[in-house]
Amino acid sequence: MSIEEKVRKTLEELDVNNAQGVETLFAEVRAAMETERQALASRDAPSEAARDRECKNLRDRWLARKNGLLSFIDENWLKKAVKELKPTVGRQFNELRKSAVKLEFDQLIKDIPKAINLSGSAIATASVRADLTVGGVTLRDLTLPGYRRPLGSLHPVTRVMREIEEIFLNLGFTIETGPEVETVYYNFDALNIPESHPARDDWDTLYIDSKTVLRTHTSPVQIRALERRGAPLYIIAPGKVYRHDNPDASHATMFHQIEGLAVDRDITFADLKGTLDFFVKKFFGEKVRTSFQPSFFPFTEPSADMAVSCWVCGGDGCRVCKQSGWVEIMGCGMVHPQVLKNGGVDPNKYSGWAFGFGADRMAMIKYGVTDIQLFYQSDVRFLEQF
Ligand code: PHE
Repeated sequence: MSIEEKVRKTLEELDVNNAQGVETLFAEVRAAMETERQALASRDAPSEAARDRECKNLRDRWLARKNGLLSFIDENWLKKAVKELKPTVGRQFNELRKSAVKLEFDQLIKDIPKAINLSGSAIATASVRADLTVGGVTLRDLTLPGYRRPLGSLHPVTRVMREIEEIFLNLGFTIETGPEVETVYYNFDALNIPESHPARDDWDTLYIDSKTVLRTHTSPVQIRALERRGAPLYIIAPGKVYRHDNPDASHATMFHQIEGLAVDRDITFADLKGTLDFFVKKFFGEKVRTSFQPSFFPFTEPSADMAVSCWVCGGDGCRVCKQSGWVEIMGCGMVHPQVLKNGGVDPNKYSGWAFGFGADRMAMIKYGVTDIQLFYQSDVRFLEQF
């Protein structure tokens, strides 16, 4: 669609419904304006009068009070913008008006070098075609504006992970990372999951060789951090994990987890509950409540699955919580004494809690996305909505 057509439509008709879309649209307008100005500057005019006429035409096309492109933008984009977008459109429109000063007649005349404009020289003629051929070599006209790429934005999963990191950083936790190609020792043994133990089958593991895996969870970072930094320790470990699952709406071979670990003197289950309750209220809103159901993980004892009351229906039952009023979001528990020992920390002196959850799932829940695959298909129409 040409600029003339676009300015005659409203933002809604153009399907522009967020600040980023507005910025992209205005960038396009500014680029068009600059291209036309530059094209005029390099055009060959037969006489001064003809050049003046061209300048005036360009000026009027954009700035005429009646039927100038800017007046359409004012009328159809700014005045008809929905309330939430108005400040952005207003700001962008002001910027545009400022750069449009270059299109005033006096400015145009000043910026256009007469020599090129008035001579019928080879240079002026070639410039019309934006290229210049000298001795068989074609030179690009470097004064033409380049291609503009629309600005990107953060991936929804990255966004959610950063938001969660921020909450824990504010509580005094630090961020730890570990390798995605992990040893069987850190991924299983050190976490109290012996070979032959059926619990190992809970994680559908991708093996690289008999001693190396793609980590199936972020829990190995617990051991690495304990070894490296000892107690007391307050960390979260965000990162990619891998499982030998068939892809469907809720499974992906690669996804993201965030692990949490707090080890100190006199840490109890009450600390775990208090911290996680605080976290979900920050993330989902003050109204949500938490519920802990007994569960099993080899590296925590006791273990629990934590659910939050549905923030959509308030617990009455709806589509999001599948009519149950609750949404299960993470596994957690008190760090098993053997795990502390494996990390080199004395379980008689220290105790701790840990949790782990899927960041993709959090993003799905938060934004109402029903298929995890959408996060990994790089479809701009999906990604643009965040
Ligand atoms: N690692 C567990 C999983 O991937 C989650 C978990 C982490 C549970 C820490 C308890 C404590 O399922």
